[in-house]
Amino acid sequence: MRLSELPCPDPAAQAASRALAERLEAELRMQGNWISFARYMELALYEPQYGYYAAAGAQFGRSGDFVTGPELSPLFARTLARQVAALLQPGDAVLEFGAGSGALAAHLCDELVALGVGGYRYLILETSRVLRERQRERLGARVQWLERLPEGFRGIMLANEVADAMPVHALTWTRSGIAERGVCVNEGELAWCERPAAAEVLAAAQEIAIDLPPSGRYESELPLAAPAWLRSLGTALEHGAILVIDYGFPRHEYYHPQRSMGTLMCHYRHRAHADPFFYPGLQDITAHVDFSALARAAAESGLDLLGYAGQTQFLVNCGITELLAAEDHADIARYAPLAASAQTLLSPAEMGELFKVLAVGRGIDQPLLGFAQGDRSQSL
Ligand SMILES: C[S@@+](CC[C@H](N)C(=O)[O-])C[C@H]1O[C@@H](n2cnc3c(N)ncnc32)[C@H](O)[C@@H]1O
Repeated sequence: MRLSELPCPDPAAQAASRALAERLEAELRMQGNWISFARYMELALYEPQYGYYAAAGAQFGRSGDFVTGPELSPLFARTLARQVAALLQPGDAVLEFGAGSGALAAHLCDELVALGVGGYRYLILETSRVLRERQRERLGARVQWLERLPEGFRGIMLANEVADAMPVHALTWTRSGIAERGVCVNEGELAWCERPAAAEVLAAAQEIAIDLPPSGRYESELPLAAPAWLRSLGTALEHGAILVIDYGFPRHEYYHPQRSMGTLMCHYRHRAHADPFFYPGLQDITAHVDFSALARAAAESGLDLLGYAGQTQFLVNCGITELLAAEDHADIARYAPLAASAQTLLSPAEMGELFKVLAVGRGIDQPLLGFAQGDRSQSL
């Protein structure tokens, strides 16, 4: 996709992006004209006034920039509710991270009612103030919002497409070593600039085995924030499970020789492209999740690995096909879009295979419904 093919933002959006670019440039001046890509991504997505998720612009759903599983189909949350219901114990809470438009919470709570499950609290921890407001409008008193991670949490933590939105470092491997791809201003424009990797980044990068392609250059991302986040969840979890759902791979696939351009992806009005400097603040920037790094982080905070599977396998194990079969086939206006959305969630060519579900936890003895068949924990 050429950038000239992307739709042009309206003048107000362009002005907001310009304001964010000026903040970025001010920080670059203070930092000697270089910041890590992780810092750039943090500001582009979360700068409190103009960052993509902080500003009113972050749009989910068909009319926005991208569609997530819960946005696409109520079947996603209804199926996940079956796993949540099987795990919930008296006095437990459900804690959702990064609830976006609130679609998952809304459908999941409805389905728990339908399953006769009650007596739990549904909590949301959302970093974006604007999204918190949007969630409040949709969910009202059914949910409580937290400002920070609770201590001694008992219950189920859920994070759908949150880990991919956490800042990553960008690196280049060549025959002469590992360099960090950061951001600078070059000829008046934000641009990539390489320099030797900082000690902490270098140490983590040196643990990764990279097969250099014939070109002698391999670019990829190093996600450090997501594992750190999972470690903090592990510390907060006294009893229960954490389900992380996202697109990504185990480490050996993440750094596969054929993926020599990395996994960084930008989304703007349903167009995917690879330029993170296109209108900062107006587009989503993501990187795939290294699920091996998440599993390791969980183990470091004393959590057990409860399961790892592709989204298709997890949803089928939890009963998505039975849920769809129970719908009224004669009601074509309702059934046809529901069946089409199930197809997108499950098809290996769409979300079914790229998206994975990782479950880790503490004090859970029973096998999890979602991993009854096709558990791929061994691949992590
Ligand atoms: C791609 S959206 C996904 C939204 C929603 N989960 C869905 O599936 O539709 C990422 C969400 O994660 C939030 N977020 C990012 N980092 C977070 C963090 N450390 N804690 C909580 N929320 C976070 C963003 O504000 C946003 O709501």
